[in-house]
Amino acid sequence: PGSPRELLLSRIRDVPDYPKPGVLFKDITPLLADPAAFTALTGALADLCTRHQATKIVGLEARGFILGAPVAVRAGLGFIPVRKAGKLPGATLSQAYELEYGTAEIEVHAEDLVEGDRVMVIDDVLATGGTAEASLELIRRSGADVAGVSVLMEIGFLGGRARLQAALRGAPLEALITL
Ligand code: PRP
Ligand code: MG
Repeated sequence: PGSPRELLLSRIRDVPDYPKPGVLFKDITPLLADPAAFTALTGALADLCTRHQATKIVGLEARGFILGAPVAVRAGLGFIPVRKAGKLPGATLSQAYELEYGTAEIEVHAEDLVEGDRVMVIDDVLATGGTAEASLELIRRSGADVAGVSVLMEIGFLGGRARLQAALRGAPLEALITL
């Protein structure tokens, strides 16, 4: 205990064999329920946004919304939701990406990201990197710049960092905890 990292780690619950056998699920709900830990988490992520001179926050549905919205408020920045396809009413940019089985699609309101923006992507976990990579494609296609990707946890052995490297174009990928 003691260090901020230890506090965060102590509030993440390992759930074996969820959502399927052989997967160790990292459950952040105990962290969200602990005000000291949740405050430490949103403060650390907001500091990264400030340090990397972000001008907007993108949160990735759904768990990236829980973290990204308070981070945006703390950093004094606007919050832009990247949603699963079919949920946004306005004109959108869409990006498909590969899942372990099949494909998924995410969308953003086209008018929310423009040239000159510096966007920080916030999510809970970087696993294979597919979701984050697709969000970076959306941001690039809008004409905005990427300030970075900041996550609570990076699952190192799944190779997400390598997958994101090209799309980051030198922007930082930071994880508060690497597992
Ligand atoms: C999870 C997690 C990340 C993503 C990481 O989201 O919250 O967004 O997977 O995986 P990847 O790096 O392999 O893309 P998920 O879509 O499962 O559901 P959520 O709506 O609960 O966030
Ligand atoms: Mg998610």
